[in-house]
Amino acid sequence: MTTAEIVDLKGLPFELRRLQNNSGSSAVRHVLRTLPMYFGDKRAIPFYSEQASAVKNYSLGAYLNARQVGIVVLRSSTDDTGEIAVLAIVPEHQSVGLGTVLLDRAEQEAIRRGHKCIIAATVGPKQKDPNFMRTLRFYERHNYRMLAEFDYMWPGVWCAYLVKQLGD
Ligand SMILES: CC(C)(COP(=O)(O)OP(=O)(O)OC[C@H]1O[C@@H](n2cnc3c(N)ncnc32)[C@H](O)[C@@H]1OP(=O)(O)O)[C@@H](O)C(=O)NCCC(=O)NCCS
Repeated sequence: MTTAEIVDLKGLPFELRRLQNNSGSSAVRHVLRTLPMYFGDKRAIPFYSEQASAVKNYSLGAYLNARQVGIVVLRSSTDDTGEIAVLAIVPEHQSVGLGTVLLDRAEQEAIRRGHKCIIAATVGPKQKDPNFMRTLRFYERHNYRMLAEFDYMWPGVWCAYLVKQLGD
């Protein structure tokens, strides 16, 4: 952990901390386990926790009273392109603006890295999953636009690739 910032949302002081290596992985595991409707596939948690431990990735954890409540991981896919590799907030602290704050910090980091755009993959509208429809609306409200939707990346699940131009 290298830096800490406090953000006040609805009167609650959320602490944001940069995470490295194992602290990032265990944060991902902790948050994703609270969201079985989204990350219930047994391959999901090991896959995403590995993203947080990759040295070049940027991981930021959110805490309330020292309890882990959210996580975002940014990966640099190419020199021009960043990717939201993980973004999740525990159910009891969703809809107060914390996802927006973590997404913003990841976008700021992508800009610092010189990326021109940022992408995110999520379950697409053809899947008709009401939980992920909310996720899609969240990204759309933050100016992410759907590039493509296909069903070969995650067997049996429609995957949507979203993109946002940075620095507008
Ligand atoms: C998608 C997700 C990351 C969004 O995080 P969040 O903290 O709930 O998002 P925010 O609170 O910033 O914004 C979302 C909602 O809160 C509202 N909101 C935003 N800022 C707010 C504020 N300051 N006060 C009150 N409400 C606010 C928005 O209008 C929005 O409304 P909705 O509940 O109808 O969607 C979160 O819901 C989540 O973890 N979902 C499950 C996992 C997931 O889908 N991850 C995405 C990658 S696949």
